[in-house]
Amino acid sequence: MKKMGGTGLQGKHIVLGISGGIAAYKSAYLLRSLIKRGAEVQVVITPNGKEFITPATLAALSGKPVVSEFFAANTGEWHSHVDLGLWADLMIVAPATASTIGKMANGIADNMLITTYLSAKEDVMVCPAMDLDMWRHPSTQRNIETLKRDGVIILEPESGELASGLTGKGRMMEPDAIAEAAERYFNKPLELEGKKVVITAGPTYENIDPVRFIGNYSSGKMGFSLARRCAERGAEVVLISGPVSNPGTLPEGVGRIKVVSAKDMLLAAEREFEDADVVILAAAVADYAPAETASHKIKREGVDEMTLKLVKNPDIAATLGEKNGKDNRNRILVGFALETDNERENALRKLEKKNLDMIVLNSLNDKGACFGTDTNRITILKRGGEILEYPLKNKDEVADDIIDAFIH
Ligand code: C5P
Repeated sequence: MKKMGGTGLQGKHIVLGISGGIAAYKSAYLLRSLIKRGAEVQVVITPNGKEFITPATLAALSGKPVVSEFFAANTGEWHSHVDLGLWADLMIVAPATASTIGKMANGIADNMLITTYLSAKEDVMVCPAMDLDMWRHPSTQRNIETLKRDGVIILEPESGELASGLTGKGRMMEPDAIAEAAERYFNKPLELEGKKVVITAGPTYENIDPVRFIGNYSSGKMGFSLARRCAERGAEVVLISGPVSNPGTLPEGVGRIKVVSAKDMLLAAEREFEDADVVILAAAVADYAPAETASHKIKREGVDEMTLKLVKNPDIAATLGEKNGKDNRNRILVGFALETDNERENALRKLEKKNLDMIVLNSLNDKGACFGTDTNRITILKRGGEILEYPLKNKDEVADDIIDAFIH
C-alpha cells in the first residue's frame, strides 16, 4: 500500500477514467488540477467519452497518450489494463455515467475503463454525473450501493442546474473539489500513528533436551502480516515471535524479539505490555512443557519405554487480560481462537475467560484457513456481542480487517 503522509499529490499515480457524459468537458479541468497538485495522470476514456472531449486535449494536458481501445489501431499493440491497475495509486472515474456505474457494479468489462477498474489494486473514486431522474432511479441507486459495498468511494453528485435544463441532484462534483478529495485521501492521518502495538506470533518450542522439543505447525504468517500492516498504518510495532522459518518480510522499524519457549514469550510480552496501546496474541503457544529439560541428549540405549512428564505453560493472553484495566492505560487486547467444534461458543468463552476485547476465530474445518497457508477465513467476536464474518482472503487483507475491527 502506498498511502503515506505528505502534502499534495506529489508523485502519486492517478488513472483518470472518463465516460460519456456532458460533464466530460470538466475532466480537462480536473486533469489540470490533479497535475498542478503534483500527480502523474493517465487518462482512460470510454468510446462514448470521446464523443464529448477529444483525446488530443487530454493527451496534451496529461503529457501521455490517452488509452481507450484494447489495441492500438496503428500498431496492434495491446494496452495492458493490468499494468495500469498496478501502476495506479488511485483511480478516479469522472464523470461516471449511469451506464459506466452499472458496468462497474456488475463487472461488464467491455471497454478499457472497466477492465482497468477491475484490475485496480488501490482505491477507486467515482464521481457520478447524470440527469436527476437517472440518478434517483432504483437501478442506479442499487448499483451505487453495490459499489459502496465493494469499497468504492462515491463522491456524491451535487444539486443544481443540469444539462437537460432541469434542476436537481446529478451535477458532477466540481473539478477542484474532486482534486481536493483526492488530496485528502492521500494525506489522511494514519490511524495507528502514535500507538504502540505488541504482537505475539508463531509457535513456541518447549525443549525436552538440547536437540528435541515439543512444538506445533504454526507458521507465524498471520502475526507477521499483522505486524506489517500495523506498521504501514502508522503504529510502532513490537513483534515477539517464536521460532519461524519463512513467515514473510517486515518493514524497517518493526522491533522484533525472538523467543523460543512460552515462558520466554510471557516475559517479553509482560515487559512490552506496560506501555502498549494494543496487544495482539496471535502466537500458537504450546499448552504444556516438559517438567524438566535434560541438559544432555537423552540416549535410547537400554530405554524401551519412556514417559515424559508435562506441566502446564502460562497462558500469556489470560495473564495480560488479568492485568489489563488495573492501571490507567486503556489497552485493547486481541486474541485468537483456533477451533474445530462449537466454534463460536468456545471462542466466546475464551474472550470472557481471558478478559479480551476481541477474539479472531479460525476454524480448522475451513479450507485455506489453516497453519502455513497464505489465506485465512475469520470471524471476529467482540466484547459486547458484535460478530463480524469475512470471506477467505490473503493474510495481509485479513490483517487489515482485524485492524479495522479494533480501531472502529
Ligand atoms: O486457549 P487457547 O489456546 O485456545 O487460546 C488462544 C489464544 O490465547 C490465542 O490468542 C493465543 O495466542 C493465546 N494463548 C496464550 N498463551 C497460551 C495459550 C494461548 O497467549 N499459553
